[in-house]
Amino acid sequence: MPIAPVEVLEAAGLESCAGPARGVALGAALDERLFVQMLGPVYDEVRDFKRTRMAWPRLAQLAALARAVARLGVPGDYAEFGTWRGGSLYLVAETWRRLEQNRDLIAFDSFAGLPPTAARDGAALHQGQFADVDVNEVRAFFASRGLSRVHLVQGWFQQTIGALSGRTLALAHIDCDTHDSTVAVLGRVWEALAPGGFLVVDDYAHPDCPGVTIAVEEFFARREEVVWQTPMPESATAPGLNCSCWVRKRGGREANEAARAVGAAHDPGILRARLVELTAQVCAARGLRRIALYGAGRHTESILPGPWPAAGVQVVAILDDHAAASRPHVAGVPVVRPEALPVPVDAVVVSSDRFEDVIATRAAAVFGPRGVPVLKLYGR
Ligand SMILES: C[S@@+](CC[C@H](N)C(=O)[O-])C[C@H]1O[C@@H](n2cnc3c(N)ncnc32)[C@H](O)[C@@H]1O
Repeated sequence: MPIAPVEVLEAAGLESCAGPARGVALGAALDERLFVQMLGPVYDEVRDFKRTRMAWPRLAQLAALARAVARLGVPGDYAEFGTWRGGSLYLVAETWRRLEQNRDLIAFDSFAGLPPTAARDGAALHQGQFADVDVNEVRAFFASRGLSRVHLVQGWFQQTIGALSGRTLALAHIDCDTHDSTVAVLGRVWEALAPGGFLVVDDYAHPDCPGVTIAVEEFFARREEVVWQTPMPESATAPGLNCSCWVRKRGGREANEAARAVGAAHDPGILRARLVELTAQVCAARGLRRIALYGAGRHTESILPGPWPAAGVQVVAILDDHAAASRPHVAGVPVVRPEALPVPVDAVVVSSDRFEDVIATRAAAVFGPRGVPVLKLYGR
């Protein structure tokens, strides 16, 4: 089971917290003191089965992902499948409220406990479990906190999942314990998730919920995304506490940026502009203020006026062995034969990509004896 290393968390824009917990050694995002500092009073309202059955590390992970989508600008809402008394929902709602996020939170639940279970769900679960909830009380709780963007959708997922239609999700949380309930929503949730968005499945790897692990494994076996198990600090490694996973959907802003960066790195125009700029800076740094470009072709046209003036470097002449036959000026700079250069220069810069070595050899033959350095843009 992969545990996200710290670089992965940082690349994903997640918190990677300092602290003494074992989680840090594992590259975990979770630090209890930080969680308590950030969400302590909110957690106190829901903990110990008042409104949530989730241990703090899983809530901390969920809240970290809620912060991540806000910071990364991943578009969309929050959908939760398995809300019970609203504890995990409250943590996300409060996190987004503090970050002034303009997003809806849609919470799906029968509010009447689990549906019939199947053999693959094991022996620990049974129909009607978690029925100790009153949907009106949960609704009133969120209303009393002024969290008007929370919408409770009551009923069996199979009948209510349509309420997702037309929505984009930045963050989704599946916490419904059984195989069939997970399967009933996983595909639709994944479809609705924005590229770069996160899915959390709370019961993944929980010993009492084997059906959820099966459903997640089967679903992601056919996909490229990595399923990361929520890292657990030492204080929460007891069986039953040590569960939950998160998955980030491929794509999104960072993927576009990475693709653009790779594209730019291979774009000849961008590469040339960068090398010319660097050469201008090198000239300036070495006090080579008056230079001649060697080569009167299209390459030279493309690098004039270029970055030279901004770097404090003046192109005083263009050298060409066939000066008489070529144009008298390029971009206003006179074209002359190397031997006929009328003014002294501090350096000669070879201006050709295809014939750089040939021209550099010729330039060195003419200017070497005069002690004038010859610089190349591309080669050494
Ligand atoms: C463990 S509880 C959710 C706990 C909650 N997220 C928390 O913060 O503690 C699981 C919930 O999933 C709901 N559930 C499971 N399968 C369902 C289905 N097919 N349709 C509707 N609700 C379902 C149950 O009613 C139950 O309230």
